[in-house]
Amino acid sequence: MKTKDIPKDYIVDFPYKQSKYLLDGAMHDWKGDFENVYSPIHIQSEKGQSNLIGSYPLMNKETALAALESAVKAYSNGKGEWPAMTIEQRIDCLKKFVALMKEQRKVVVNLLMWEIGKTLKDSCKEFDRTVDYINDTIEALKDLDREASRISIKQGIIAQIKRAPLGVVLCMGPFNYPLNETFTTLIPALIMGNTVVFKPPKLGVLLLSPLLKAFKDAFPKGVINIVYGDGQEVIEPIMTSGKINVLAFIGSCKVADILKKQHPYPHLLKSVLGLEAKNPGIVLSDAEMDNAIKECITGTLSYNGQRCTALKILFVHENIYDDFLENFVKEVDKLKLGMPWADNVSLTPLPEKDKPLWLNEMVEDAVKNGAVICNKNGGIVNETSFFPVVLTNVNDKMRIYHEEQFGPIIPVIKFKNINEPLDYIVKSNFGQQASVFGKDYKMLSQITDALVNQVCRVNINSQCQRGPDIFPFTGRKDSAEGTLSVSDALKVFSIRTMVALKETDINKKILKEILDAKSSNFLRTDYIL
Ligand code: G3H
Repeated sequence: MKTKDIPKDYIVDFPYKQSKYLLDGAMHDWKGDFENVYSPIHIQSEKGQSNLIGSYPLMNKETALAALESAVKAYSNGKGEWPAMTIEQRIDCLKKFVALMKEQRKVVVNLLMWEIGKTLKDSCKEFDRTVDYINDTIEALKDLDREASRISIKQGIIAQIKRAPLGVVLCMGPFNYPLNETFTTLIPALIMGNTVVFKPPKLGVLLLSPLLKAFKDAFPKGVINIVYGDGQEVIEPIMTSGKINVLAFIGSCKVADILKKQHPYPHLLKSVLGLEAKNPGIVLSDAEMDNAIKECITGTLSYNGQRCTALKILFVHENIYDDFLENFVKEVDKLKLGMPWADNVSLTPLPEKDKPLWLNEMVEDAVKNGAVICNKNGGIVNETSFFPVVLTNVNDKMRIYHEEQFGPIIPVIKFKNINEPLDYIVKSNFGQQASVFGKDYKMLSQITDALVNQVCRVNINSQCQRGPDIFPFTGRKDSAEGTLSVSDALKVFSIRTMVALKETDINKKILKEILDAKSSNFLRTDYIL
């Protein structure tokens, strides 16, 4: 990409050096080492070719522990300013944050394109969806608060039951949604009164830097602290300290297992995990062909297949297999690969270092075991770009049959009997979602009833996806722990707590005095409209 060819709206002043970090309510200048940030987009200028676009602090153990101590102090065993605040006061802080965040839209969107190669359209969508998520969270919290504003009396006990925070939360999001998925745990954790240490993913770090000042200005000191750097150096000491109450992590099973084992008190730690998936698409013999192809294209290849919800294996009934494959392959080969800001671009450079090499190994392994690459452009590599490969003759000896590819490889399997894909799903380690394409209601009912006890969302005649965000997002087996959605997340990051009094005259009088005087932030019956 030549500098002169970059549209001026998408130019960021590179190198983008993030030299400040937010800890204990203040922005500090980082004096230590820095980690370089490389873009999947290579820029050709008069000085030569480079993809170095910036750097961020490579923190050490001491700074990570200082960030943790700041969150612990801000929580102060539940007596800190933030956990003790009324919900209305916390909502005010969040509203201030979202207003400041919106001012940074352009730079965050540009950095999303440059750091992780997401298309302009999807980068804008990620930003706007995150803003909507925050606003919806505020409304869901008001609902929750209204429901909890009443007093219950049962068997001579007067009680008020509400939700209270859990403590200090460690939030770690994934590189494919570095803003949105990080915020889908960070925001509910914060608004429920927890304090947070958060580590940006390995890719997609700089795009959070324009938001640091908004965090600082909107929330009380120490409520949010951000650590950067190598996981072993900065996350291990935080986890082994035993001071983390909730681990909110979206990423690989391997890393989740390591993190959980590092915590010395397993029963004190609650985990909210979004992990790997191998969502299948099942195309039945009576499927509406055009729709099935369209949904399977977006399902397998949106953001180059780098979505946990992507369709990662297709099962197609033998009666329509040839027809489906011919048209599917044509559509794949028509997809435009280019720069994230280019018009009608579907495929973009891959941000993970050496990913094309890794994908190539997956394809070679499959071919060695009998698979056939059946699209003309399949596997063409150009620097960080990898044109999608459609593989047929796929069998269980191949890595692609079992492993999550998280990239543009599409294994397609011909089936005769519906038990073949159903058995695959039963045997799989994963259980997030599935898609089924067909028309016969009896067949669809039978498959749906079998699948709802294997995965957590069955999509009929559409690709798998997380949204709308008010719907529950979770998985079985190795795919998730805990359920996220706008309202579920508020519950995940809090615990039901109650105050109870025997129904005596003196207790009734005390309770009435507390409520009338509004002297407690917990025991109160007023609510936010
Ligand atoms: O990577 C996993 C995301 O949660 C998927 O979300 O289905 O909206 O792309 P999406």
